[in-house]
This record gives sequence, structure tokens and C-alpha cells, in this order.
Amino acid sequence: MNFHTRKWVRPTDLNPNSTLFGGRLLEWIDEEAALYTIVQLENKHIVTKFISEINFINAPRQGDIIEIGIEAVAFGRTSITLRCEVRNKLTREDILSIDKIIMVNLGEDGKPAEHGKTKIEYVKDRLSL
Ligand SMILES: CC(C)(COP(=O)(O)OP(=O)(O)OC[C@H]1O[C@@H](n2cnc3c(N)ncnc32)[C@H](O)[C@@H]1OP(=O)(O)O)[C@@H](O)C(=O)NCCC(=O)NCCS
Repeated sequence: MNFHTRKWVRPTDLNPNSTLFGGRLLEWIDEEAALYTIVQLENKHIVTKFISEINFINAPRQGDIIEIGIEAVAFGRTSITLRCEVRNKLTREDILSIDKIIMVNLGEDGKPAEHGKTKIEYVKDRLSL
């Protein structure tokens, strides 16, 4: 799993316990999942369909640097299934895990459309073709 995105926990990201607000972390993860899916499926018209159990393992604190990892674990006809892990960049302490995030590829009509992808692709390989 590649951890592409780093985030700095700022005062505006905290809950009343002075740890990272879970909703903020989910916002970051949803954006990361969307970006990952757009790159994999080569289509900007995608939506989040389903997110499985979310395990908040350890709470980050103000000033912590966290990193978000996403990888594709299955390719369906119109969907892609992702797995997510978040960890502390410096200590590698686990922060969160999600086993399944289902993203759906949409056509121009806004309905699910076949994406034609079957495996993880890398942009550098596409460009060298
Ligand atoms: C995404 C949406 C278009 C799918 O509509 P739908 O009628 O469920 O479509 P389908 O039944 O054809 O399913 C589409 C894909 O999602 C999968 N899927 C649907 N419901 C699912 C669920 N509960 N869990 C896992 N996968 C699911 C299907 O298996 C299918 O994948 P496949 O083609 O790879 O087999 C529709 O539910 C929707 O617009 N939801 C709102 C999305 C949204 O607003 N997200 C937040 C903002 S991004």
C-alpha cells in the first residue's frame, strides 16, 4: 500500500478532547479515495457508494503528521473496492483502518457504467506506452 497523502493535524481539526475530529479524518479519506479512483478508472465521474466498518485505532493529536494509504483490492464491473489505512508518519502508530470502500464509476447519464479495468495501473506506465 502506498501512503501518498500527508496531513498535519491543526487546531481547527480537533474535537473537544483535543484529538483529531473523526469527521475531518473521514473527509480526508473520502477525498483520497475519490482521487485514487479517478486516477485508476480514468474518469472524473465517480461516487462513493459504501464504506464498511471504520476502526479508529489511535487518536492523533495537534501537530501530528499523519499519512493516508489507499489501495485497490478488487475491480468489479462498474465498481472498485479500496482498502484504507491511516498511520502516524513519524511513529508508524496505526490510526485507522477501513476494509472496504466501494466507489462506483458513472457514465455521462450519472448511472453506473462499466469501467473496463481489472488491475491496478500506474500513470508512468500509461505514459510510456
Ligand atoms: C452509486 C449509485 C449510482 C449506484 O446505484 P445502484 O442502483 O446501487 O447501482 P448498481 O446496483 O448498478 O450497483 C453499482 C455497483 O455498486 C455495487 N454496489 C451497490 N450497492 C452496494 C453495496 N451496498 N455494497 C457494495 N457494493 C455495492 C454493485 O455491486 C455494483 O458494482 P459492480 O458493477 O462492480 O458489480 C447510487 O447508489 C448513488 O447515486 N448513490 C449516491 C452516491 C453518493 O451520493 N455518494 C456520496 C457523494 S460522492
